[in-house]
Amino acid sequence: MTRPALQLIFDRTGRAAGVDLDDAALVELYRYPDDGRRRLRTNFISSLDGSVQGTDGRSGGIATASDQHVFALHRALADAVVVGASTARSEGYRAVDLQPWQRELRASLGLAPFPALVVVTASARLDPAMATPAEGDGGPVLVLTTSGKADADLGPLRDAGIEVREEGEELDLGAALDRLAGAGWPRLLCEGGPGLHRALLAAGLVDELSLTLAPVVVGGQGLRSTSGAALDGALPFELAFALHGADGTLFTSYRARTAGAPSLP
Ligand SMILES: NC(=O)c1ccc[n+]([C@@H]2O[C@H](COP(=O)([O-])OP(=O)(O)OC[C@H]3O[C@@H](n4cnc5c(N)ncnc54)[C@H](OP(=O)(O)O)[C@@H]3O)[C@@H](O)[C@H]2O)c1
Repeated sequence: MTRPALQLIFDRTGRAAGVDLDDAALVELYRYPDDGRRRLRTNFISSLDGSVQGTDGRSGGIATASDQHVFALHRALADAVVVGASTARSEGYRAVDLQPWQRELRASLGLAPFPALVVVTASARLDPAMATPAEGDGGPVLVLTTSGKADADLGPLRDAGIEVREEGEELDLGAALDRLAGAGWPRLLCEGGPGLHRALLAAGLVDELSLTLAPVVVGGQGLRSTSGAALDGALPFELAFALHGADGTLFTSYRARTAGAPSLP
């Protein structure tokens, strides 16, 4: 894999900072612990002026080369990619396909060949074409939605090979994520968007927040990494590590602080 150099510039564990990370060290930094516990990591890229949308309204407009690599690494390390329906619709999400280096990495870590794509939706207004990857082989696609939908609404998704789970009158995100973990997918990666991110944060379900700062300013009315009503109070996080990409991108990784829990080493 070729990528811009990435340098560790902050690390709470005291490992040497200021050195270029080789591929193995980068994997070690982002790898989920192997304890089988459900972990939800969210990953966003933002412009310097706080927008998660480029001037075209999509996130690709602010993505840098090093972000594309780290984005792909996140996917390579996850059991399931969880995404809100609006992002799935606007970004044209499909079953997750992978490059050879991602597949080799997954094989070396004993992970399934591909992560699943899990789309969260109340409307179930989704394109059945998302069942197939853009290229080659891909992972399964699962839709989590609310109950009471007509067969005519869900039939086309199911016919395309998508597993549709009607989770109840309201979607209990915690219970849904527990079921994913219980079925062998504890390493969960949420790629947004802001509406789903807020719901997950409000429910106390986010363990790690990866926020990338792209060295661009876009102006406009772009969304932040959360949208919707304010939370009941500010949620505390602490910085686990930060990386500097040779293309000027800043990568941060934060861990949720739960009341009474010890801080990071
Ligand atoms: N820069 C980045 O890193 C990044 C990452 C992701 C997205 N984005 C951008 O963010 C924008 C989309 O933002 P968004 O906030 O509209 O999208 P979103 O969070 O992806 O989608 C919101 C939708 O997800 C479903 N949903 C969310 N929480 C739910 C819950 N608790 N129960 C049931 N359904 C739930 C609903 O789908 P239904 O409408 O189908 O009911 C809701 O309308 C796009 O422009 C995208 O490009 C940027």
